[in-house]
Amino acid sequence: MGAFVVWGADMVTVQRGDEVRGVSRAARAGGARVALVPTMGCLHEGHLELVRAAKGLAGLTVVSIFVNPTQFGPGEDFDRYPRALERDAALLRAEGVDVLFAPPVEEMYPPGFGTFVNVERLAEPLCGARRPGHFRGVATVVAKLFHAVEPDVAVFGEKDYQQLQVIRRMVTDLQMPVTVVGVPTVREADGLALSSRNTYLTGPEREQALGLHRALERAQGLMDAGEERPEALEEAARGVLEAAGLRVDYAEVRHPETLERMDRAAPRALLALAAYAGQTRLIDNRVLVAPGVGEGGGGPAACPNG
Ligand code: PAF
Repeated sequence: MGAFVVWGADMVTVQRGDEVRGVSRAARAGGARVALVPTMGCLHEGHLELVRAAKGLAGLTVVSIFVNPTQFGPGEDFDRYPRALERDAALLRAEGVDVLFAPPVEEMYPPGFGTFVNVERLAEPLCGARRPGHFRGVATVVAKLFHAVEPDVAVFGEKDYQQLQVIRRMVTDLQMPVTVVGVPTVREADGLALSSRNTYLTGPEREQALGLHRALERAQGLMDAGEERPEALEEAARGVLEAAGLRVDYAEVRHPETLERMDRAAPRALLALAAYAGQTRLIDNRVLVAPGVGEGGGGPAACPNG
């Protein structure tokens, strides 16, 4: 029970929803704001940036690690998704995280579980079209994590752009008392966006994966030169991905907030990419900005997302 979990000195690890809720409520009763960083573990620098952002926003920082089965489709990598709980816990402790919430599957999905959150429209294109049920699983588990932790603020990466939009919509529609914060994508020096699935890549596949970042840069270069036709930007991005040896899943220009198709990519447009390096599916995105338009209105930049 929560009453036995003391917060303050070292990071505590809890597995049950009522335990984490107890710590969260005690912290709030003591005047602290509570931040949650939901993850599926196998933490990398991108996750740690989320943690740092959360710590700047709250007095109690909770990180959840849960490889969520309902967001993986049949034939996807749920079984082999990298798990590294001890290493992750050490990283989180070093960042000064207060609580690690690492529930077992039965805690999140008890026998007979049958209630899901379905966000319409925003969850339909892009990864939603290629991974049926994915965002239903994401929205459901995030709603459950919010219910367990009762955070004031929740922090997500902008690399999972569509996920971030789906979660914002859910929070608005269900009037959840949580502020959702998006944090910019963290990249390697050569531009590769950090992802837990990068661990699957062989050396040559990692080289191919750089095509994603190059495709985003190329599209922005074309925008800078005055190109505003979505199909021209998509074709150019697709060309760069294919030249890098990637198998394109999608390369689509979409409205940064509604994720609908656009007639013109100005003043701003999301370019969302998904491509396979070998068997590994990678995603990346960028909000393209027309010349003369200031930065900062792209909405949440923000699908591996399990
Ligand atoms: O972004 C992720 O790692 C996952 O989709 C999330 C938000 C933790 C839900 O399982």
